[in-house]
Amino acid sequence: MSSRLLFSLSRREMLQKCMAMGAITIASSVSRDAMAAAFEARERELRKPTPSNDLGPFYKRRAPNSMNLRATGDPGLPLGVSGRVFDTLGQILPQATLEVWQTDHYGHYDIEGYRYRSTLIADSQGEYKFDSVMPGHYPDRVCQHIHCLVTAPGCKPLITQLYFASDRVFDGDPDRNFTRDPLIHSRELVRPVILTGDPKDIKAIVRFDLCLERA
Ligand SMILES: [Fe+2]
Repeated sequence: MSSRLLFSLSRREMLQKCMAMGAITIASSVSRDAMAAAFEARERELRKPTPSNDLGPFYKRRAPNSMNLRATGDPGLPLGVSGRVFDTLGQILPQATLEVWQTDHYGHYDIEGYRYRSTLIADSQGEYKFDSVMPGHYPDRVCQHIHCLVTAPGCKPLITQLYFASDRVFDGDPDRNFTRDPLIHSRELVRPVILTGDPKDIKAIVRFDLCLERA
């Protein structure tokens, strides 16, 4: 086969040829076409999907849309969380829906109402943000965390949690100590914390980009 013909083949055709010639063997009950499509899709992936994490028992549907979860006078360290929502091809996902829920400063979830719960919609650049407080610790969980359920058309739903590198549980070394919380399976979910403002008006800032798998 000439190199010119080689370059004229699409990647899918090349994969089909590899299968026909024995360069790729299908050891699966799934069809060749389906396996070639899946192979091709994975090859095009530019970003790793965000690791999933447990939903937990305190999820509530239909939280109101609010970017300000922190009310005036609420105790705790003010916290701003923001990020962008992508798919594994690196495409931004405008209009992705993010449901977030967390405890207050004292480690209490609002079971009756919707304090520290929100349904957010990413903007045209896939960007989301909300203001809150640093969540507290509570007896059933080791680390501070914010739960997140993300959905977008054409993508698999993502259920995950955000953790904080500043958490006292990590003793300043999340690389070494992130498994002290048995629910943290990925270091990637522990995000760096940036402090801004001044001592009278301090605020923690965390970026948490989210990457969804295509459906
Ligand atoms: Fe939780």
